[in-house]
Amino acid sequence: MGELGTVIYEKRDGTAYVTLNRPQALNVYNLKMRDELYQVLGAVRDDPEVRVAIFRGAGERAFCAGADLTEFLTAPPPVVARQVRRERDVWGLFLGLSKPLIAAVHGYVLGSGLEIAMCCDIRLASEDALFGLPETGLGIIPAAGGTQTLPRLTGRAGALEMLLTGRRVTAEEARRLRLVNQVFPRRELFPAAERLASRIQGYSAAAVSYAKQAIVAGLDLSLEQGLELEARLGRALVRAG
Ligand code: COA
Repeated sequence: MGELGTVIYEKRDGTAYVTLNRPQALNVYNLKMRDELYQVLGAVRDDPEVRVAIFRGAGERAFCAGADLTEFLTAPPPVVARQVRRERDVWGLFLGLSKPLIAAVHGYVLGSGLEIAMCCDIRLASEDALFGLPETGLGIIPAAGGTQTLPRLTGRAGALEMLLTGRRVTAEEARRLRLVNQVFPRRELFPAAERLASRIQGYSAAAVSYAKQAIVAGLDLSLEQGLELEARLGRALVRAG
């Protein structure tokens, strides 16, 4: 992997630690971060030593406060942007990973910051986390899958309220909305994420991956097709074992 500047990638005992690292600008997501995240996600996918990944934000104030509005204002024309997106489909890669991904979020979790968290499988938040999708108020709509991932977590009403009003939601409310799994005091957030990662690592990597695939892919299928998928994955797991 090349030299990274906006993301820190570390690997310890089978866990990949991905830290969004622009703390002076609340870890906002810019083009460089997109390219680096793409590299890092490829490493998570391809490195057999990585069993689980934890995503977090550097600094005290934010997981990620959304897209970098300074770059957004100078964004390339739509045709170029579309081409780049095809070449670097970060979100498709993110959502297609079959390894378990944990987001440990604190402070501002806005716009693409929330979308990154929603690409993960389990979201842990600190008590001070604040969630929101400000895009509609800026005259745009989410571009990192948020219109699809949010309602799959919260249901239609909660997602529409968040997206249409841009209202910020506290950690406790986010838990009630099923946007986050658990809420912790800040100092307990990261240890909790590590405990979860080490528990998952104790299980068969194939069983974990197949279980994730069955749930994620099954959500977009009818019950009948989902049951077929489960049976197919179950058989494949027995053959692989
Ligand atoms: N793009 C670029 N820079 C941003 C940014 C963004 N989306 N959000 C924050 N920053 C930068 C600020 O410019 C500031 O930089 P500076 O210290 O060089 O001036 C730094 O991050 C700290 O932000 P600041 O606004 O001073 O902190 P705050 O506590 O007053 O407010 C927020 C925090 C998150 C409420 C506010 O920064 C905000 O509303 N940001 C925009 C969020 C947004 O709309 N994101 C979604 C885009 S789709």
